Amino acid sequence: MIIGIVGGGQLARMMALAGIPLGMRFIFLDPAEDACAAPLGEHLCGHYDNTELLSTMADKADVVTYEFENVPESAITFLADKVDVYPAAQALATARDRIHEKRVFQDLGISTVPFAPVGSFDELQDAVRSIGLPAILKTRTMGYDGKGQFVLRHSDDLESAWNQLGDAPLILEGFANFRREISVISVRGRDGEMRFYPLSENHHRDGILHTAHSLPDDPEQSQAEDYARRIMEKLDYVGVMALELFDTGDKLLANEMAPRVHNSGHWTIEGAVTSQFENHLRAVLGLPLGSTKAKGYATMVNLIGTIPDTSQLLSEAGIHLHSYSKKPYPGRKVGHATVWSASKPTRQKFALNL
Ligand SMILES: Nc1ncnc2c1ncn2[C@@H]1O[C@H](COP(=O)(O)OP(=O)(O)O)[C@@H](O)[C@H]1O
Ligand SMILES: [Mg+2]
Repeated sequence: MIIGIVGGGQLARMMALAGIPLGMRFIFLDPAEDACAAPLGEHLCGHYDNTELLSTMADKADVVTYEFENVPESAITFLADKVDVYPAAQALATARDRIHEKRVFQDLGISTVPFAPVGSFDELQDAVRSIGLPAILKTRTMGYDGKGQFVLRHSDDLESAWNQLGDAPLILEGFANFRREISVISVRGRDGEMRFYPLSENHHRDGILHTAHSLPDDPEQSQAEDYARRIMEKLDYVGVMALELFDTGDKLLANEMAPRVHNSGHWTIEGAVTSQFENHLRAVLGLPLGSTKAKGYATMVNLIGTIPDTSQLLSEAGIHLHSYSKKPYPGRKVGHATVWSASKPTRQKFALNL
């Protein structure tokens, strides 16, 4: 089986690391010559809209998937004419636009923060009047790791927020006063079977995910699964999907979905029977899904900007290091480490100094 992946970053790399033992082979499309997945398969080096390379991928691959939601829609349509692509274009189109995504949530009876599309300074003022402050102004598309966002606290902030972001279509969101941020990683097979991983509790630093704890037996599990189930059924979804949620203590608000494997699910490599990467591949290939049950307790910490001293890291019991072999620079995700333990750990013990 040959799997084509649009994108050759760490998510593609970890999919390949999960699929190679199952006898799968990989072909990646990525413009970066040093794409970190490249050593694990064939690398088509070029832009995502390069139709010659897309055709090569479609010819060679049995199925195509992608590792990020900002793949040009035209690339997916082009591929889908020639080869099976999962998750399908409908899921990608929903996830890439924050307004579209939140409308789908609302239509499914899934709670969100109040929001409004913003296309002009007047509309921004109107939206602030109806939603109130604090609020967050975000670009509708292309945002990741907290990029393209501006927190509005006072009415004087509107002008600088508009100057910074006003060139792109925007969304204004009410500010969620959450107790914690969680996510549910789910998988749906080609036959419609669905499985759900235990929740992750997520902590961000400077808008970038820093730590994710697995939460076996969390009281919000069934509510989160119910939301994810509704979305996957509606979109006839195939593959792994992540749903980010704000837990207000009162209810769960859906923040955003990702139509792919997700950083908050990296702990599943050591902390679940089948990792999110393997289950994504199983799903898109139409193979039986693997168990999503937790194995013990896991905490993942992202390594951002630099890989700390490896010998020191590896001297900690129960630690698993994943270096992505990426050139380090500030703010770049260059790896992650997962601490695993069989019994429920205290949070102090998990306070990795990273
Ligand atoms: N409406 C909101 N209220 C409160 N915090 C928010 C809101 N939207 C985003 N955030 C914070 O910013 C982080 C990144 O925002 P998110 O919408 O998930 O964008 P990204 O695509 O960059 O992950 C969230 O995980 C959360 O911590
Ligand atoms: Mg997010």
